[in-house]
Amino acid sequence: MFGVEITGLGIYVPSRKITNFDLEKIMDTSDEWIYQRTGIKQRYVVENGISTSDLALAASKIALEEARRKGVKDIDYIILATNSPDYLIPSTSSVLQGKLGISAGTLDVFSGCTGFVYALIVASSLIKSNLSKNVLLVGAEAISKYLDWQDRTVSILLGDGAGAFVLSQTNDKDKGIIDSNVGTDGTLAELIYIPAGGTKKPFDKKSLEEREVYIKMQGREVFKKVVSILPTEIKKLLDKNGLKPNDVDLYIFHQANIRIINTVVETLEIDKSRVYNNIEKYANTSAASIPIAFYEAYMNGLVKPGSIVLFSGFGAGFTWANVLWKI
Ligand code: UT7
Repeated sequence: MFGVEITGLGIYVPSRKITNFDLEKIMDTSDEWIYQRTGIKQRYVVENGISTSDLALAASKIALEEARRKGVKDIDYIILATNSPDYLIPSTSSVLQGKLGISAGTLDVFSGCTGFVYALIVASSLIKSNLSKNVLLVGAEAISKYLDWQDRTVSILLGDGAGAFVLSQTNDKDKGIIDSNVGTDGTLAELIYIPAGGTKKPFDKKSLEEREVYIKMQGREVFKKVVSILPTEIKKLLDKNGLKPNDVDLYIFHQANIRIINTVVETLEIDKSRVYNNIEKYANTSAASIPIAFYEAYMNGLVKPGSIVLFSGFGAGFTWANVLWKI
């Protein structure tokens, strides 16, 4: 058995910034409502012509450059978590591979905002079992393309961006993934979904007129579900590994709503200095939020070799996943 270390990190967000004040001009909302209910002040949104693979490419190049400086030569797999693929067919990781021009197997993970945490588990398993030496792992979203700007309940929440990790094999078997727990409640598939465009309701003129090609979300139900599941699941994972909440050096939660994160943190009595949030700056970047937040925490010196990190994701599916990680 091998360990896993992070040999490269990169992020990218598009340059077009939209503040809550900008949104006040196009819909019936206010900076005060958005900030108080969500913790969001602004988000970045792609220009026309830019897609998810472009954001993924920019973040990946930064991560790969760092990994190459550390001696990483070949990437065996590119695993990309997204909910806003370039195409339904083929996978966005394939498009990214073509743009990067590196030889690698490709796999998309399409598991809601939880996607990056699921992908982290898959990538780590490949490396630990020696099926792969180096994996480029990306969370990327041009999810603004699926927003209905006439729907103030969803459009204010999301933003675009990408984060990339290069994960590499190490003989230090204590490094990398320590343990994980995951779950899905597929009976809640329609809590967050795009009604049309898949095989159940193929895209047509009517679905466009009825605005069924955009993300619909029952926000309040999602909120209640997350705060009822996440503290219990995190506690179970910590207990199983003989850890108390404040034995974890850094918590990186999916950046969906600051009130959700604060409820989980208060329920588990986690010291707030152990939690890194940046929802204020980027809003909810779906599968990209966890790698973007980790990158910033890392750059701010919040972890060092030996630190324990807990990555916690939740979202469409309904899905959730937690990973305990040693730097
Ligand atoms: O990453 C995927 C996971 N998704 C999430 O984690 C989302 C979780 N849910 C949430 O973040 C919150 O439920 C929201 C932020 C989406 C909504 O907050 P809420 O406190 O649950 O508000 P609500 O939906 O119950 O709406 C309260 C009021 C309503 O008005 P009335 O019926 O009380 O008159 C809404 O129409 O706020 C109104 N409202 C707004 N007002 C101003 C809804 N959206 C807006 C808005 N601006 N953008």
